[in-house]
Amino acid sequence: MILIDGKTTAKKVFDKIKTETENLEKKPAIAVIIVGNDPASKIYVNRKHKKAKEVGINSLVIEFDENISQEELESKINELNNDDSINAILVQLPLPKHLNTYRIIEKILPIKDVDGFHPENAGKINIGIEAYAAPCTPLGVMTLLDEYKINPEGKHAVIIGRSNIVSKPLASMLLSKNATVTICHSKTHNLKEIASTADILVVATGKANMVTSDYVKQGAVVIDVGISRDKDGKIHGDVDFDNVAEKTSYITPVPGGVGAMTIAMLMQNTLRLYKIQRGQK
Ligand code: GUN
Repeated sequence: MILIDGKTTAKKVFDKIKTETENLEKKPAIAVIIVGNDPASKIYVNRKHKKAKEVGINSLVIEFDENISQEELESKINELNNDDSINAILVQLPLPKHLNTYRIIEKILPIKDVDGFHPENAGKINIGIEAYAAPCTPLGVMTLLDEYKINPEGKHAVIIGRSNIVSKPLASMLLSKNATVTICHSKTHNLKEIASTADILVVATGKANMVTSDYVKQGAVVIDVGISRDKDGKIHGDVDFDNVAEKTSYITPVPGGVGAMTIAMLMQNTLRLYKIQRGQK
């Protein structure tokens, strides 16, 4: 069993970005919008902000009260769309229930959509042509597979979970690399039987330790996208690591696996958008 080291892989990405930005007179810039007081969202946004500075990317965090209206938020996005000093816009999700998330994402200029969530970018990924940016978490998974020379071609990739942020774009990306892709979810019959036919098993359900060794084929690659905290504050993945690890050929730990890659991909996307906007890509 080989442990897939997200931390080391992310560091390589950060170092490469830092080297590139050091030579730039004008730094790339990301604007991050956060609405309300969700503690997890605040932690993520602070991490993004800190990391951006470390790698030579300017970061602007825009905080709004929980009660901001749809119009006010859309007008802020318009302002950022028209601001040439901003290359990348991210709206931290989830948003409060009274806001229409889809309509807000749709207002971001596709060329500034650092999350790759805008329907133009999502659609491009779906039809297998290059988007301005691709969603950070699935991009992190693909980068890890690449780093460990795991070629998805011809393999059966099973994804448990069907989110727009992770599973659907990841399915498209794996399909573009010629994997045979199955998406499973909470209503799937015979989940265990299907999962245990996977050469590459990706789990993105948010259910701590749900995947045990009977879901896993001997020698499979197991990628754990989940991260949750129990009532004692202990971090868990969606995969019961101790139970599963010895059966796998490769496995990502939690923490230090996929999660460690997400911010690296966000910074990489920011630099990419900067270059595209300057006609350098
Ligand atoms: N919330 C959880 N994951 C993400 C993400 O990848 N992007 C944004 N904008 N919000 C998130």
